[in-house]
Amino acid sequence: TRPVSIKHACVRPRASGRRKAVTVEARKVALLGAAGGIGQPLALLLKMNKLITELALYDIANVVGVAADISHCNTPVKVAGFTGEAELSSALKGAEVIVIPAGVPRKPGMTRDDLFNVNAGIVKNLVENVGKFCPGAMILIITNPVNSTVPIAAETLKALGVYDPQKVIGVTSLDIVRANTFVAEAKGLDVKDVDVPVIGGHAGVTILPLLSQVTPPVTFTEAEKKVLTEQIQNAGTVVVEAKAGKGSATLSMAYAAARMTESVLLGLNGEPNIYECAFVQSEVVQDVPYFATKILLGPKGVSKIMGTGELDAFEKSGFETMLTELKGSIKKGIDFVKSPP
Ligand code: NAD
Ligand code: LMR
Repeated sequence: TRPVSIKHACVRPRASGRRKAVTVEARKVALLGAAGGIGQPLALLLKMNKLITELALYDIANVVGVAADISHCNTPVKVAGFTGEAELSSALKGAEVIVIPAGVPRKPGMTRDDLFNVNAGIVKNLVENVGKFCPGAMILIITNPVNSTVPIAAETLKALGVYDPQKVIGVTSLDIVRANTFVAEAKGLDVKDVDVPVIGGHAGVTILPLLSQVTPPVTFTEAEKKVLTEQIQNAGTVVVEAKAGKGSATLSMAYAAARMTESVLLGLNGEPNIYECAFVQSEVVQDVPYFATKILLGPKGVSKIMGTGELDAFEKSGFETMLTELKGSIKKGIDFVKSPP
């Protein structure tokens, strides 16, 4: 049988209640870029998460107030703020999950790749510190361009001799969140029952929703497939244009990242059947060393990488289209660390 995603306590309705109670273990999560557009709402959602005991909020500026504010919420999570590189080691020490939304967002007219010049260095530096101060922690990378920043993180950890491919995850959850929403709207389904796998990467045509594999099974006309696929691929750009220079998706991204963080924690806690789509080191596609598919999360992180399943003709064509761009973005990330400019 095909895996289905679990229901998440913090961000989804509780009614379905398919998940058994989980023992709370001491879990420190560090959020790097915590004062930003994603960082602030994500910090709030993590403060509400019952699987977390300690939350370190790190940024280069403005994070002390965010930490003070969030710390007043009467949930058990212990919150502390850390500002600037001098305090980064304290933020990281003892953390088992590191979530990274640090970096600049797009403005209208930009591609995600246009962020590379600024964000590549930010991710490399933060991950170097993770490698030094909490090697072995799970690293969830939100910073764009994800198709390049994940290889950057992996190569950075390799250079330090502490790389474990089970621990580095590119967060593509927002694509799944969007796909679930748009398919439910288009087909009049209850969104809580809808699960759309999205594979490939996280930029334009590299985002490939598998409409032939939707749960519950739904059929689409060729025209519907085209419209929905483009809607999912362009959703980030729609938000960037609607925000008109004031950034990109932050609230829906915080929601999606809270969901992924919770899944990672459930996996670490030994909860079975925790499946998410994510961009990871993968052998699913020949000559494409990183690829997003459904993954199984377990006590050591990514414990299994699922295949793409059977693609229909429309999806096969989308798959072929994405490969050149995806390979190029991955290579650009690898080269940034291995042969710096
Ligand atoms: P933002 O500008 O609102 O916030 C970014 C934060 O990062 C700021 O608080 C800034 O001070 C901080 N920062 C910058 N350099 C840092 C460093 N070296 N160490 C720690 N913090 C640092 O941006 P945002 O809207 O929160 O977006 C952040 C990133 O997430 C962007 O690159 C954006 O493209 C990406 N993003 C990814 C997805 C996805 O699906 N993966 C979705 C939305 C946005
Ligand atoms: C998104 O998909 O919303 C993010 O990748 C941000 C962006 O630049 O579109």
